[in-house]
Amino acid sequence: MARLIGGLGTSHIPAIGGAIHKGLQQQPYWKPFFDGFPPIRDWLATQRPDVVVVFYNDHGLNFFLDKMPTFAVGAAPLYANADEGWGIPTLAPLPGDLDLSWQIIETLVEREFDVTSCQEMLVDHACTLPVKLFWPEDPCPVRIVPVCINTVQFPLPKARRVYAMGQAVGEAVRSWDSDQTVAVLASGGLSHQLDGERAGFINKAFDLRFLDSLEADPEWATQFSIPEIIEHAGTQGVELLQWLAMRGALAATGLPVRRLHRNYHIPISNTATAVMALEATGA
Ligand code: DHB
Ligand code: FE
Repeated sequence: MARLIGGLGTSHIPAIGGAIHKGLQQQPYWKPFFDGFPPIRDWLATQRPDVVVVFYNDHGLNFFLDKMPTFAVGAAPLYANADEGWGIPTLAPLPGDLDLSWQIIETLVEREFDVTSCQEMLVDHACTLPVKLFWPEDPCPVRIVPVCINTVQFPLPKARRVYAMGQAVGEAVRSWDSDQTVAVLASGGLSHQLDGERAGFINKAFDLRFLDSLEADPEWATQFSIPEIIEHAGTQGVELLQWLAMRGALAATGLPVRRLHRNYHIPISNTATAVMALEATGA
């Protein structure tokens, strides 16, 4: 059976792509953010996952407001990106893993999560940047399964539902008849609001409480309604749902979870950034 070794999380601000492209990682503005990654890359270098399931939200590249699935799973051999207008260079397509994609889709539908399966799928900065941050090597050494959760167009799925969907993804990985090593990755958040009266809103106390909960009390955030999450974390801070899905997947291993590394820095662009790695101990 496949091994689910742990979970990663990072914010996905488009400007990060420009900073990587221009080699600005050591500049004072960027260093506190990029410094979060080397300890996690060291761990990944020892664990060498073959596949990573990426929980993220598309921002209008593959799904626009006219067609918005609540949960969509990629089932493509390759995932191209495109010019999103943020100034991020277009990268080489990321390789997919068809076998794990269908294992996840079949398990989710069996568990009554009626997902949209996507045999063609463009992935935006929320998928490409985290993969590039954790695996800067070229060509990309991991295959991906993108799991897109709508945090953009109302109505959004409830936190408890997202956590349960993540658990079902974790069960799909655990029951995958394969010798592959798998990690799960959350992309998004933490608190930020890009528009409206509260543009620039950040809530450090809530963010840190949320990160703590992922270690010790993973269902803590499922108590909140979507309006409550937005009140605490900002309109786009609702992306923290992606982290709940990642944590749900780890919970499905039944293994104790240990924090390997965590970094929090305010702000990059308009966003409170977090980087984290959780190990499923004994996987
Ligand atoms: C920013 C943050 C995001 O999550 C995003 O998708 C786009 C922009 C920002 O802070 O600039
Ligand atoms: Fe975003």
